Formats: sequence, structure tokens, C-alpha cells
Amino acid sequence: MEKKILALQLTHILGEDFPRDWVEGLLEVPKQPQLGDLAFPCFQLAKSFQTSPAIIAKDLAAKLKHDIIAHVEPAGGYVNIFLNQRFITQHTLKEILSEQQSFGNQTFGNGQTVLLDMSAPNIAKPFSMGHLRSTVIGNALANLAEKCGYQTVKINYLGDYGTQFGKLLAAYKLWGDEEKVRENTIEELTKLYVTFHEQAQQDESLVDEGREWFKKLENQDEEAIALWQWFKDESLEAFDTIYELLGITFDSMRGEAYYTDKMEATVHLLNERNLLQTSEGAQVVKLEEENLPPCLIKKSNGTTIYATRDLTAAIDRYNTYQFDEALYVVGNEQSLHFQQIKLVLDKLGFEWAKDVKHIGFGMMLQSGKKMSTRQGKTILLEDVLHEAINTAETSIHEKNPTLQNKREVARQVGVGAVIFHDLKHDRRNDVEFSLQDMLTFEGDTAPYLQYAYARAFSLLRKGEFDRSQADIDWHDSQAWPVIKQLRAFPEVIAQAYTRYDPSKLARYLLDVAQAFNTYYAHTRILDKEQATARLTLVYSFTIVMKEGLSVLGIQAPSEM
Ligand code: ARG
Repeated sequence: MEKKILALQLTHILGEDFPRDWVEGLLEVPKQPQLGDLAFPCFQLAKSFQTSPAIIAKDLAAKLKHDIIAHVEPAGGYVNIFLNQRFITQHTLKEILSEQQSFGNQTFGNGQTVLLDMSAPNIAKPFSMGHLRSTVIGNALANLAEKCGYQTVKINYLGDYGTQFGKLLAAYKLWGDEEKVRENTIEELTKLYVTFHEQAQQDESLVDEGREWFKKLENQDEEAIALWQWFKDESLEAFDTIYELLGITFDSMRGEAYYTDKMEATVHLLNERNLLQTSEGAQVVKLEEENLPPCLIKKSNGTTIYATRDLTAAIDRYNTYQFDEALYVVGNEQSLHFQQIKLVLDKLGFEWAKDVKHIGFGMMLQSGKKMSTRQGKTILLEDVLHEAINTAETSIHEKNPTLQNKREVARQVGVGAVIFHDLKHDRRNDVEFSLQDMLTFEGDTAPYLQYAYARAFSLLRKGEFDRSQADIDWHDSQAWPVIKQLRAFPEVIAQAYTRYDPSKLARYLLDVAQAFNTYYAHTRILDKEQATARLTLVYSFTIVMKEGLSVLGIQAPSEM
């Protein structure tokens, strides 16, 4: 905000040749706070004005004036700007108090529609860490989009189709035990799937059997469909427990299977546009010019594949939602797939292909290695969540034994810890999984933020803070770093969305808490004279912290 105002003032002085955006880009925050709140470097202007940066700085410093500025000092080639703390404090608090949880809202989304393809676990398989990443990153991006004025559609594109289900059906028919599957669906089905692969290495006829069952599924064979539906229902029930713990919902649950009977139309369209070529018996779209391997549309045995379904789904989604942006929150390892999808859509002449974006993310590692789904080595997400909740509960028992709703608070803290651990990292990087790191109350964790929030909340209770008597007309240099942080919230929201990077917001919340804790450590909040003013700041902090966490998908208990 300040940057925008100052850039405008500076361009007025400098003249039309120096556009506001360019000036704004040059404004920086000095490393040492005693050098001012913002600084404008004049080195790049020396050539145009044919004089030294120091002289330009002196001249600018003399001319720069605005309500938000307290004073200006030239220092070498820099113009150091000290903001009017009282003026800005007043404005900031006023804005937060009047806007409450809408503080930070943006309008640039303009009601446009953003689709999020997120979560997308595969039925009959455990919900993996990768799917967790997709779920929480997707959810945070959706919340950010909403806060920026977009409408969102969260789609859970379930992996409920493909040749692997032929194998699973074959395995179930051979070795399945209905009772066991009913009791422990995902575990049993995963076992059957693994057994199938082991046995198929010795007995090739099994592969044919798998193919047979997939054909049956494609041809809507009654038994095949019934079993598949059963596996799907049971899997969904297991996934729902996880979504409920996470507090995440979807607008659409259309999975891959929904597109089975719609893919022929896509193949037809590709043919019509002369895009299909035969290569070793398979139907492909060549992408040689783009230096990419061909996009496989139909295998030599005539079955469609993942790409065919994604193309079909994209077209169907555009027709349904006329999206302005479609974000696919899927691991980095599928980046080639999405490059291909985008190119094929473009070749089909869909102008909206440019709005299809792959939002990739890194893997969850364990001791530096990929967590594997095979051989029972997986860490089950449900176990992780429960362990996090239990650990949180134990620590709450120690810290606050009289707390009323311990279990619910523990859920908010445990789940928050898991979500935050994911979101604080730049999504593109791999993340090392560590339950211990997630749950400490010190360091970069959700419990640290939640604790700062709860502590602030208890101050409000103790001080019997009354919103209607808030005091915004004061200034205190101890509080200034907190004000500056709170003030940055709207800009952080905008950046986190436009860069599709929730870690921007996560990191920011750590900075806010840090600034607040420092203030709290050095200031007697419940001071006789100044309690109302100080509690007004504490209250504003709780509003921003609660809303920031909520955008990340994390709840903030008022006591813990
Ligand atoms: N179910 C897939 C998997 O687990 C992810 C699907 C991602 N979304 C998509 N539209 N392809 O790998």
C-alpha cells in the first residue's frame, strides 16, 4: 500500500519517463530498520539526469511529501523514507476492525471461475502423502482464490478407472474374501493387487485374465460393475474419514470413470482435426515440433488411457463451467502428462487451453527417500493424522489440564500441524516428513501460531476487551513492527494467489507471530492507562492470524 502511494508521489516528481510500476519495483525495505521503513535507490537515474545518485537523492528527499510520510533523509544514493507511524497505525487498525475477516480481500478475481483439480486419490489404494499434498495445497489455493474475488469449483477427480481395475477384479475373483474386504477394504484390496503382480510374473495367463475383467468392466458386465461399485463405495467411505478430519469438502466428485462413455467423442474430434496418427498399432498425437514424446490416446488393443480421459474431462469441464482458469494440483512427476494435455487441447483449437495450468509439487520424503506404496512400507495418512492428534492431546493434558474440549482442540492442533508442515514449504520442492517437526510448539509450526493466537485471545478475555471501545488513535514504536506486518496481509494474499504459492502466506504468518511475540514480551499489555489501545492491537492480531490460518485450512482454537 505504502509502496504504491510513494511510487505515485515519486513519479510525479521524476516525470512521465519513469513509470509508476518501475519506481515501485525499485522501492525496497532497508535491512536495518533505523535506516527507515522504505528506501528508494537513485543509481539507475544517474544516467538520465546526468548527475550523481547522491545529488538526485538529495533533491528527491526535499520534494517528497505525503500524509503517510513522517520524514525523509537522503543517504548516499538512497532516499530513506520514514513513515508516519501514527497515521498508518490508525489507518491499519481502522481497516482491520471494520473489515474483520474480510480484511485482505481482493477484487481482482472479478467473479471469474477457477477450477481446482485436487486430491484425486485412487480407489482401492491407500490415500497417499502425495494425495494429501494435492488436497491441502488445492484447498489453500481455492481459499486464496475466493479471497481474491474468484469463484471456485473444487473437483475431486477420483482415480476410479483404468486397466488396473481389471487386475483387481481378477485377483478378487481368484483369492478374495468378501468378509475381509468388507472389514478392511483398502488394506485387503491393496494386498490382492500386490499378490496379482507377484503371481503374474510367474503365470502370464493372469495378465490375460486381468484384461478380460477390464473388458467386462468396459462392457458394463453386471458382476464386474457391481464389484467395482462396491470397491468404490468402501474406498470413498475410508477417504471421507480423512476429508472430515481435514475439514475439506468438494464441489464435484466426478472421477475418471464418469468419462468412460464420453471418450469416443474426443477420439472422434481428434480424428476430425487430423491429429491422430498410428504408431506401433497405437493411436497417438505427435508432439515432435514441441520436442515432446507423442501423447498416447488409444493403446494398440483399443483401450483408452489416462490422457484420453483427461482431455475428455477438460473439454467437459469447460462446457460445464466456462472456467477462466483450471488448476491441476498434481505432483511434479506428472508434468510431462500435463504439458501434453495442454498442447493437444491447443491443437484442437480450444482457445482456453492457455488457461489450463499444472500446479506441480514435490514428493514427501522419508529419510531422504520417496515414500513407497508398495510392500506395505507406506505410512498411512490416517495413522499420521491420528498420531498427530494424539500427540497434541498429550501435550494439551500437560500444558492445560483443565481445558474443556481437549479432544476437539487436539484435532485442530494435530491436523493443523500436518497441514502447515506441508504448506510452509515452497510446493515445488520435496518435503521431508517428520511428525516431530510438525508438532513442536516452538519453531515454524502450526501449534506455534495457534498458541500465539490463543494467548492473544486470553489477553482479550482477561482485559475484558470491548470491541465497541477500541482505541486506534495512538502510536508506539514497540508496536510498529506488528502494525507493519498486519498491514502487509492484503498484499501477501494477492501474491500467494497470483504465484500459486500458499507458502508465502504460511511464512508470513510466522513473521506476524514473531513480531507479535516480541511485542508481547516487551510490553505490559494490561497496563492501567494503555490497556485499551494495546488490546486493540492484540485484537487486530487475532483477526489477521485467525483469517490467515483459515485460508490455509487450519483452525485456531481460542484456548489451548
Ligand atoms: N489419480 C491420479 C493419481 O493418483 C491423479 C489425478 C490427477 N488429476 C488429473 N486430472 N489427472 O496419480
